[in-house]
Formats: sequence, structure tokens, C-alpha cells
Amino acid sequence: MNDLTARILNRLSTGDDFLSGESLCHEFGITRSAVWKHIGLLRAEGYQIDAVTGRGYHLSGLTGRPVEAEVLPFLTGRRFGKKIHYHAVTASTNLLAKALAVEGAPEGTVVVADSQSGGRGRMGRIWVSPPGVNLYYSLILRPEVPSIRVPQLTLLVAVAIHQALLALSSELAPMIKWPNDILVNEKKLCGVLCEMQSEPEMTHFVVVGTGINVNQAEMPPELRESATSLFLEKEQLFSRPELLASVLNHFEPLYDEWLLQDDLGFILPYLEKFSLLQSRDVSIDQRNRNLSGTVTGIARGGELKLEGEDGQTILVSSGEAHLQKKSDE
Ligand code: BTN
Repeated sequence: MNDLTARILNRLSTGDDFLSGESLCHEFGITRSAVWKHIGLLRAEGYQIDAVTGRGYHLSGLTGRPVEAEVLPFLTGRRFGKKIHYHAVTASTNLLAKALAVEGAPEGTVVVADSQSGGRGRMGRIWVSPPGVNLYYSLILRPEVPSIRVPQLTLLVAVAIHQALLALSSELAPMIKWPNDILVNEKKLCGVLCEMQSEPEMTHFVVVGTGINVNQAEMPPELRESATSLFLEKEQLFSRPELLASVLNHFEPLYDEWLLQDDLGFILPYLEKFSLLQSRDVSIDQRNRNLSGTVTGIARGGELKLEGEDGQTILVSSGEAHLQKKSDE
């Protein structure tokens, strides 16, 4: 959708009343026939727009796509999501968001795609990104903190997503899996990939990429054992624009608080309460070594506290955690 069509859609989506063709011409500096052309483009995209002689245009049906005009009405924060760049398909929203951040896009800008042809996960994995069903988006942040604090953002985002999921359905029982996943019934529902451009003392920007499996009705065979979606868990469809807005609404105050603090201390009780790994035996794959032990908590800096067989606790700052089977399983 081109920028002007998107702006006309935004305008139609604010307020319940009819908007006259003349006022649209005036506001956007275009002719009557140009207004018609954009209304036609929006209808072709699936928007229902009533046209009544003497009254003008009225948006009566949305598409459920996570475009700016459909997300904005649900936003309650001041900054996050006020500008949303929507793409029907792109390689990766993280790549686009990084390019926008380099060009100077402000904090809170979001890039969202209906599908990704090269969705990226952690550790070089791909993120399966079929069209029409899920959320794939990246949020640009410009935190004025030393880069060493940036990895904490992954857990902070996980808390916001967790809160948004609980607000959506109190029966869902999502769990946060350190450092970047949300699981339901021990299957992955959501993953976060943070990327940054920084110097040691200064963070230029962070791109927080998030994939949430929302309405996907079938997982590819290789993911069936390990991944799930909201639809598969609840047998109901969820609004992607509302969920995106809710995550942003929950994240903005957490982020503002985190900027005032030195670490994640203020949110540790929440993280530990909903940590899938808490008190569990795990093995952790790191690039060049493997660790194992019992998880005793999360440190203020976001590291996993791991107690080894020797009774010593170490702080693990990165890696992929695998649950060991409980002894009675
Ligand atoms: C992971 O669990 O490995 C992280 C997955 C992150 C996927 C999201 S989808 C939107 C954004 N764009 C990408 O290419 N990746 C992230």
C-alpha cells in the first residue's frame, strides 16, 4: 500500500462519521478522481468503504491485517507504534528496521510484515513466516545505556508479551523461557531476536524483532512437536492488530522504568514467577561449550543462575537452554 493510500485509510479509521470527498481532497491536496483511485485501492485490499451521495465515505469493514490504521485505535502509549511501516512481504522486518534506524527513524517506529521470505531466528535459524496468520514485527529503540545492558531488553520484551497474552486469555498459562522465548504447554509460541548497533559506552539503536504464532492452524511437520500458535491452543482466532498494540502498550512503561533503573531488579519477581526453567535441570548449548545444572533463578543483569553438580552457582549470559526430563517423567 502506498503512503498516501495508507494515510487516507488512517484518516477514515479515526472517527465513526462519514468524511466528505471534498474534505479528503482538501486535507491531502488531491483531486476528486485521485480520492476515488485511493478508495478503489483500499477496497481492492479488502476494506469495506461505504460511499453515500451527499455524505461521503465511511470505513465499515477492516481486514485484520496489522497495518497502522488497524493498530492505532488500540494504542494507549505515547511513543511506541505511532509510526508503523507495513509490508505484505519482506525478507525480514529486522533488516528493514535496521535500515530505517540507520536513516534516523525515531524510537518507537515499528516495521511489520504479513509474511517474511527470510525470517531470521537466533543462532542463524530461520523463522517460518507464512502470510495472513501471524505477527512478525520489529521495534526500533534508542536506549541511552551502555551496550552491556542491551541483552536485558530481550527478557523485558518477553515480560511485555507475557502480560499481553495473559490479558488476552487468562487460561493460556504462557511461560517465559530464558532468554527469549514464550512457550505454552512447553511448545514455542513466540521468539524475540534483538539486534543492536553500538559502541561499548553507547548504544546507537536496538531492533527488537518478535515473531508470535497467532492464527496459524497447522505447523510444518518439523515444528509440530516443538511449536504452537494461539489458534492451536485456544481453537479461536485472535486479532493481530489488537495483540500487536497490546504488546506495545505493555512494553512502553516497562521500558521507561528500565531506563530509570540499573538492571532488571524491578521485574525479577515476575520473571522468576513465570520462568519455565525455574528449579529445573537444564543443559545449555553455547557456541563452544555445553553447561548443565539446576536453574536457581535469574540475576539482575538478566543472566541465568545455574547451580552445577559441585554446588557452585554460575551466571550464564547466553546460550540455548534445553530442559532435562523431570526425574518422575
Ligand atoms: C528466535 O526465537 O529464534 C527469534 C525469532 C525472531 C523472529 C522475528 S519475526 C520478526 C523479526 N524479523 C526476523 O527476521 N526475525 C524476527
